[in-house]
Amino acid sequence: MTLRALIVTGIVVLLTALTPQTLHALIPQPRKIIYHEAQFEFNRKTQWIVENKEQEAIVRSLSSLFTKTAGFENTIRLSGKASRNAVILQTDKGLEKEAYSLDITAKKIILKASTSHGFFHGIQTLRQMLPSEINGKTLMPNAKWTVKAVSISDSPRFDYRGFMLDVSRFFMPVEDIKRLLDQLAYHKINYFHWHLVDDNGWRIEIKKYPLLTEIGAWKVDRHNNFSMRHNPEPGEPATVGGYYTQNDIREIVQYAAERHIEVIPEIEMPAHTNSSLAAYPHLTCPVVKNHIGVLPGMGGAHAANIYCAGNDSVFTFLEDVLTEVMALFPSQYIHIGGDEATKTNWEKCPLCQARMKDHNIPNEEELQSYFIKRINRFLQKNNKKLMGWDELVDSEIPEGATIFGWRGMGNAAEEAGKKGFKYIKSPAQKYYLLRYQGPQWFEPYTYFGNTTLKDIYQYEPLNTQYPESVTKNMLGVQACLWTEFVNSSRDAEYLIFPRLSAFAESAWSLPENKNWESFVQRIDKTTADYAHAGINFAKSMFNIAHKAEVTDNKVRLTLENIRPDAEIRYTTDKSEPTNSSELYRSPFFVNQGTTVKARVFINQQAFGEILALNFLSHKAIGAKVISTEANAGILTNGLLGSEKRTDGEWVEVYDRDAAFVIDLGQTNTFNSVKISWNINAGMTLHLPSELHISVSDNGTEFVKIHTQTYSENERFQFGMYRDTKEYLFGKQNARFIKLEIKNPGMTPAGHVRPDTQTRFALDELIVQ
Ligand code: ACM
Ligand code: ZN
Repeated sequence: MTLRALIVTGIVVLLTALTPQTLHALIPQPRKIIYHEAQFEFNRKTQWIVENKEQEAIVRSLSSLFTKTAGFENTIRLSGKASRNAVILQTDKGLEKEAYSLDITAKKIILKASTSHGFFHGIQTLRQMLPSEINGKTLMPNAKWTVKAVSISDSPRFDYRGFMLDVSRFFMPVEDIKRLLDQLAYHKINYFHWHLVDDNGWRIEIKKYPLLTEIGAWKVDRHNNFSMRHNPEPGEPATVGGYYTQNDIREIVQYAAERHIEVIPEIEMPAHTNSSLAAYPHLTCPVVKNHIGVLPGMGGAHAANIYCAGNDSVFTFLEDVLTEVMALFPSQYIHIGGDEATKTNWEKCPLCQARMKDHNIPNEEELQSYFIKRINRFLQKNNKKLMGWDELVDSEIPEGATIFGWRGMGNAAEEAGKKGFKYIKSPAQKYYLLRYQGPQWFEPYTYFGNTTLKDIYQYEPLNTQYPESVTKNMLGVQACLWTEFVNSSRDAEYLIFPRLSAFAESAWSLPENKNWESFVQRIDKTTADYAHAGINFAKSMFNIAHKAEVTDNKVRLTLENIRPDAEIRYTTDKSEPTNSSELYRSPFFVNQGTTVKARVFINQQAFGEILALNFLSHKAIGAKVISTEANAGILTNGLLGSEKRTDGEWVEVYDRDAAFVIDLGQTNTFNSVKISWNINAGMTLHLPSELHISVSDNGTEFVKIHTQTYSENERFQFGMYRDTKEYLFGKQNARFIKLEIKNPGMTPAGHVRPDTQTRFALDELIVQ
């Protein structure tokens, strides 16, 4: 950590003659740290002095790491005095529930808190101060285990600091959940929201309904991209999945409790539950006629198979399920989902319609409110509090519900807050870890756009556009991992780490103690800790993002990396960048046909991936593109996109037509336009239905020179690929070329997402 970074943060109150690298790299950043010029060394004679068995268990969570790595087993004493070489835990009733203070001198360490939560957090801080090797499995009998002398006083910003894991789409084994919980504890996350149920698998054993796991936990084996997976056929073997037995659940809940993490189960209703309906199909509306199975993918029209709100046996079933769930989870909360319920079957269902009539329910949205309120009454009777996604705000919110704001920037949560409901901010754009965490060319395929480590770090979750009367209802924040594109626990870790650390600092630390430069200085110690713990963390923060803009008939290249300490060095002769290659200082113009290779260097050392940009050569490079499409300028920048439709190199047009006019600047000769279409059936990206090409000398009167149509059969190809077409029309002399492109139209029956709006996308207009 540099001195400058510390001064910028304003955290360090006193800085004695330390060499900068000896300061502690703690995440989340504590409220207050004062450094002293000394250090404490742990050795085999170090004693731990505790007041009770609870503290002893907390201490053991760290002392056992010494046993594994340092090879010594310290004495833990219940009470007693020690003037030196001791870690002493002392209750201080004056501290808040999760607060702690840590005073480290050369002689001893005194950790104070008022509750076991505070003691646990203090021990985690101590763990972070130790060399990264403490987190590993390697015995290092000759290592020195020292920590710098400090005085820390610390407490969290938010009471609720949550992490959600979806184990329906990817079933994560018990041991890997434990590894994850261990890291949550390290980051002072105190709630684990366990998304146990979804269309793609029911993951919790329910004794009264054994088919939930015998049938509901297993899906058909599809090897293609999640969004492209067809629904199961009747009788097709379902072999992929798994579930947690009730003993597994108890084990996880216990393991989490030992780490001061409360586990909140989520049992989805009324939607996202083809898994339970596959087991008990009578629980959906009688109008549903499709084959109900556990969905291996998005499900298309089958996502509309939801619980029938007019059938009382649905409520009996759910109350029975929740009874077993409540017995397994001591949490005060039960999350019931409530999101994304398509109500087309409710509209047609005689039972649902009869329910609405009997209860004077004006519409299907309010029928959802009836559904959730009925479940809420049951939970309240059992002294549990209901949690749900922000769709609960779209109709009358059940009494006492806590709302998770997820859609967009999660502002529906504040709307609940206005009405006095407690809420948690979990905006998809910032806290959904399935999004790309870096320049997309280097990332595994997923949905949506980018949320980098820096994006998460810099997001301020407390929305001050709302008055204090609203924001006082904000309990905290939550990061979520949906596992559509996860095929192993390592994949999950890659998406979670290190972004969880940026999230954790937003959850725990005060905004005035947050600083991106300081965080980046600290993250390298945290990732070293991950490495020793065997966590598969992403190194995306070292990759380079690019922007190639057309301006003044030229292509201007901007390169960016999120780390303030990174230098970008590049070559234009196809060689690999080294630490003596040209230093990137500001955007520069690139000639067509050039290959730019760039890489990050920190302290002369190479990091991250090499960005290789192969600029094409053609007659429209740098030409102005006139269009109402926002980023049409990239169509003549000489760069092709990747298979990732959101990598910034595609112009995507959804559910409408589009036109592009290329202005070559002066009359030129050309024979063809070559276009690559991004085909991604799962995302309903297809060939257009029609393409018309015309030319003009004045930009107003155009003459049509080419028409291409694609039949339904040609358009709706299955797969994920680049479809390059060259449209040849014979030699032309003109200044302007117009392309008019018609949308592919609704997807046909038999499509993986039938009867759905479509899009087309193109990355370059290659004029030759
Ligand atoms: C959600 O992402 N459907 C809560
Ligand atoms: Zn119904």
